[in-house]
Amino acid sequence: MKRLEFLKQEVETLKAESRFIQPHVLHNAQDAVCNIDGKEVVNLTSNNYLCLTTHPKVKEAAIKATQDWGIGTAAVRTIIGTTTMHEELEKRLAEFKGTEGALVIQSGFTSNTATCQSLMTSPDDVLISDELNHASIIDGGRLAKAKKKIYRHSDMEHLKQILEDPEVRKARRKMLVTDGVFSMDGDIANLPAIVELCEKNDCIIMVDDAHASGVIGPQGRGTVAHFNLKGRVDIQIGTLSKAFATIGGYVAGTKALKEYMQSVARPFLFSSSHPPSIIATCLAGLDVIYNEPQRLQKLWDNAKFFKEELKKAGFDTGASQTPVTPVMVGDTLKAKKFSAMLFEEGVFALAIGFPTVPLGKERLRTIVTAGHEIKDLEKAAAAFKKCGRALGII
Ligand SMILES: Cc1ncc(COP(=O)(O)O)c(C=O)c1O
Repeated sequence: MKRLEFLKQEVETLKAESRFIQPHVLHNAQDAVCNIDGKEVVNLTSNNYLCLTTHPKVKEAAIKATQDWGIGTAAVRTIIGTTTMHEELEKRLAEFKGTEGALVIQSGFTSNTATCQSLMTSPDDVLISDELNHASIIDGGRLAKAKKKIYRHSDMEHLKQILEDPEVRKARRKMLVTDGVFSMDGDIANLPAIVELCEKNDCIIMVDDAHASGVIGPQGRGTVAHFNLKGRVDIQIGTLSKAFATIGGYVAGTKALKEYMQSVARPFLFSSSHPPSIIATCLAGLDVIYNEPQRLQKLWDNAKFFKEELKKAGFDTGASQTPVTPVMVGDTLKAKKFSAMLFEEGVFALAIGFPTVPLGKERLRTIVTAGHEIKDLEKAAAAFKKCGRALGII
């Protein structure tokens, strides 16, 4: 196609700038140790925190739901894409999050964009966002009609200045949005301070707990439960694609929030609903979360073990407080080389470069799961040390 010729040049530019992406390919099920690009490796890359991808009860639930309900609904939720199972999942997610209601939306990404877009509808509104928030929150801000104010990462003094700015005070509505756990750094938002500041300044609080749901707090209920802030955070976003290991997102909050969102949220209105098998895996996943607390314990034991091994070896693991542990490199090409060398050693840890993280903050991002055994983590730590030394990172 002649009219698309320019894309060849664009791809060359991406390659020259080390921004070209070619996805790696799984050759078997996503697991703690699995076959990636034809090689068996210790997988330190997925968000499969509780290792539910291959859990027999979750797989069984998907098969049974397909047999009972068929493969899909062939409709958006508001037409005829809502089954009794969708309703049950929303009830149970609300209970999980300690809220009056929850609305399941296509993905975590669209849950964030839909919420920002649906609540921030006027130039007289102000959306206040941490500078390291996820891309879906940034895009949510682009779709919102509100003015945007960005505060330096977790800088509560800066946030206070913004909230007390006379222009911001005059806003019709104010909403603060923060990741609960920052996806590239693994640090936890300072929710107690955020809640205090927002309560004083009448600002709605929205927390994206994509990397916290199923991971942090009692029974993995997320950052709000972790900090004992039930009833003080207006909106909790969750994903069903990380600890739940399937696909989807949800918005949890008041009954009115659910009712409003189901009437106006564009992805909910204009994109089809999840197949019954997906909803069944989420319901079964919740059962596993409640009935097998040892998974959460093992996740944190593994995270602690691996982080300590990396630190002992001299790596900079940033501000991580969770199973997401960055290994700082500070240069895109070196990070890519590090990742490639680790792969040769049978360890998969992906390099993350600009624009996903700021220039100079390039890194490998690692996530351990409940499925890793200590021997896997020892193998990974040994490979990190060997390759890190060879590259002069430690
Ligand atoms: C913080 C955060 N929010 C939202 C998302 C999007 O979630 P999903 O993959 O369910 O669309 C991600 C996933 O990368 C994330 O890390």
